[in-house]
Amino acid sequence: MNKISPQSLLAKKVAGQKFAVLTAYDATFARVIDAAGIDVILVGDSLGNVLQGHTSTLPVTIDDMCYHTACTARGTEAALLIADMPFGSYNSIDDTLINATALMQAGAHMVKLEGGQWLCESIALLTERGIPVCGHLGLTPQSVNVLGGFKVQGRDEAAADKIITDSIALEAAGASLLVIECVPTALGQRISEAVSIPVIGIGAGPHTDAQVLVLHDLLGISRRLPKFVKNFLEGGADIPTALSNYRDAVERGEFPAPEHSFD
Ligand code: KIV
Repeated sequence: MNKISPQSLLAKKVAGQKFAVLTAYDATFARVIDAAGIDVILVGDSLGNVLQGHTSTLPVTIDDMCYHTACTARGTEAALLIADMPFGSYNSIDDTLINATALMQAGAHMVKLEGGQWLCESIALLTERGIPVCGHLGLTPQSVNVLGGFKVQGRDEAAADKIITDSIALEAAGASLLVIECVPTALGQRISEAVSIPVIGIGAGPHTDAQVLVLHDLLGISRRLPKFVKNFLEGGADIPTALSNYRDAVERGEFPAPEHSFD
């Protein structure tokens, strides 16, 4: 069994090979996703929406994240396991280190944080202390109240330039991966070309190095299906087949199609 690492994902970017990422929150789905050959499993704070029934990720706690990370880790063999740091858990350097350590001890291989240049000091500290980091820019759902809703980001030149500057800063601080959410296709491409680390898009067009979806969206059972989602279970496939079809579609560059992307 080949274990996926930040280094093997970087090698895929260098070789121009796209890879698939999917969220999971428990051992059973982690096992099925891992068996489908999906390279990265994300224990997303989207569990606040799809498991807990909230309308945002803000109520999710570090204890919730540690519990679901531990469950998911028990079903993960080959995939790289990333855990989200929830809202309010990385406001200070001390909190960041304590809470990221708890997620790693629960079984994560990497933690994900939402935000730009203000995170650089934390990212440098975490990587120095043995905790790999994935950044998250564009639509950052934990900031929904600042952004005024779940809206496409980086539509004007200044906003697009800011996301690119932030991406470069996060890489320079030591981030190994970067999630870019809900930006126009052209910006998704510019960001992927501006940094050397793999860029994982969600609603960021087909040119990013990888794609991520929320599991319940891919299965078509979320309360609301955003434009960038495709229901891979539609047409009668079983869940393992739907997951393999998603992986194949991402690796071949067939997903996302134009109808899943923003101009
Ligand atoms: O919480 C989550 O599932 C995420 C993905 C949507 C990228 O952050």
